[in-house]
Amino acid sequence: MASLNFISLQILVIFYTIIKNCESISTAIPPNIPAPSYNSPVPATPSDLPCPGPEEEPISPSPLSIPDPLAPAPDFYSPVSPAPSPFAHPSRGIKAAYWPSSDAFPASAIDTSYFTHLYYAFLLPDPTTYKLNVTQYDQIKIPEFIGEIHAKKPHVKTLLSIGGGGNDPTVFSKMVSSRTTRAIFIESTIEVARNYGFHGVDLDWEFPANVTDMSNLALLYKQWHKALVNEARFCGKPRLLLTSAVYYASKFIFDEPRSYPIEAIRKYLDWVSPMCFDYHGSWENFTGVHSALYDPNINSTLSTYYGIGSWIQAGVPPNKLVMGLPLYGRTWMLQNPDVNGIGAPAIGVGPGGGELDYSQILDFNIEKYATVVFDGETVAYYSYVGDSWIGYDDVGSVRLKIQFARSRQLGGYFFWALGKDKDWTISRQGKLVDCITLF
Ligand SMILES: *[C@@H]1O[C@H](CO)[C@@H](O)[C@H](O)[C@H]1NC(C)=O
Ligand SMILES: *[C@@H]1O[C@H](CO)[C@@H](O)[C@H](O)[C@H]1NC(C)=O
Ligand SMILES: *[C@@H]1O[C@H](CO)[C@@H](O)[C@H](O)[C@H]1NC(C)=O
Ligand SMILES: *[C@@H]1O[C@H](CO)[C@@H](O)[C@H](O)[C@H]1NC(C)=O
Repeated sequence: MASLNFISLQILVIFYTIIKNCESISTAIPPNIPAPSYNSPVPATPSDLPCPGPEEEPISPSPLSIPDPLAPAPDFYSPVSPAPSPFAHPSRGIKAAYWPSSDAFPASAIDTSYFTHLYYAFLLPDPTTYKLNVTQYDQIKIPEFIGEIHAKKPHVKTLLSIGGGGNDPTVFSKMVSSRTTRAIFIESTIEVARNYGFHGVDLDWEFPANVTDMSNLALLYKQWHKALVNEARFCGKPRLLLTSAVYYASKFIFDEPRSYPIEAIRKYLDWVSPMCFDYHGSWENFTGVHSALYDPNINSTLSTYYGIGSWIQAGVPPNKLVMGLPLYGRTWMLQNPDVNGIGAPAIGVGPGGGELDYSQILDFNIEKYATVVFDGETVAYYSYVGDSWIGYDDVGSVRLKIQFARSRQLGGYFFWALGKDKDWTISRQGKLVDCITLF
């Protein structure tokens, strides 16, 4: 009985928070922001690039039939039947990117025409209260981000992302372990999202460590979704989106084997974003392409092909999968400059301390006269010069990956992260591919 009273009290507190938030929202959100809705993301503006004609059939997923993206355009763009594609209108595809608030790239410089959704990265829950810690820095950066994005055309939806790599995962583990702490966390996310005018909330817990964490994560998704539905109904506002960045595959096979809670993801999330990168890095003593679409090694699970396939096989509808694309590469120091392929022995980190942004890679390649190689087997690029080796994605591999996403009828893709591109070279590929195949 005592616990029942406690729960009632919790509900009252939540109810009060909602009322309080509803009041603040009416003044916080300018009325001209379009209503968020998963099924009708902001329509993309007509492409600023001429579309080359009839839509093209998605590439075959077989690694053997991958066309060489460096081959002349007609191979890649060859028109096929103009029959309507099962894919919806291009504007349905999600083209998202994270904006790390601590990076130097200013929100004012974001070209929203390449995106449908942008994430503010990141806020963290306080390790003892589980309420979001909106630091003094965030209090300046969030309004700047929201203000800049909402002022731009086309209108892009904004999500508040919570977590991020390198943070203490046990805070999330404790937070999800009881109904009460979940409720405190959830209400705090709604309050912050509404106060600043976000269209949704996103969880990037890296990573749930065991089966218990995973089952509690399911409870969090369920409770969070319910709170968002109730809050929207009560306030007469469109529901906040609920999304989650997840491991590239639906299961972890190392340490304690564990699977994401597929049923809860299907029921309660608008989409999940598998982070299809970091398969290899300078923590290994051989070179590798860290976001390979395919891995020719027998039984290898380290590929986007495997990861995305595992999510679909586990039962997540493909249109709820938003595939991760890295705007950065990983670097090594070669043991022997003459042995410089994928899998070559390496003895440490390469330029940039093991990681370089795409724009830095292009500059590096030019400055150092690096040799650039497209590897058709993995669908990735690498470059090397002297004892430096970099594995990364460039225009050709990104196009093929976007076509792969279409061929699987995924919900879309996202980039980590804004500011790492070179003059929107990679960011604009989705729009270019829209011209030839419909998402
Ligand atoms: C909130 O974030 C600030 C800035 O990072 C930090 O100094 C402070 O300790 C954090 N507060 C809590 C309770 O975690
Ligand atoms: C599960 O992992 C968390 C860390 O995320 C840890 O604190 C907890 O003790 C683990 N629980 C079990 C049952 O192993
Ligand atoms: C790389 O590391 C593995 C084990 O971590 C070791 O067996 C192997 O000999 C190492 N290779 C080189 C070239 O150092
Ligand atoms: C690959 O997996 C299959 C099926 O599990 C197994 O029979 C085979 O031995 C594996 N091959 C290698 C090289 O590990």
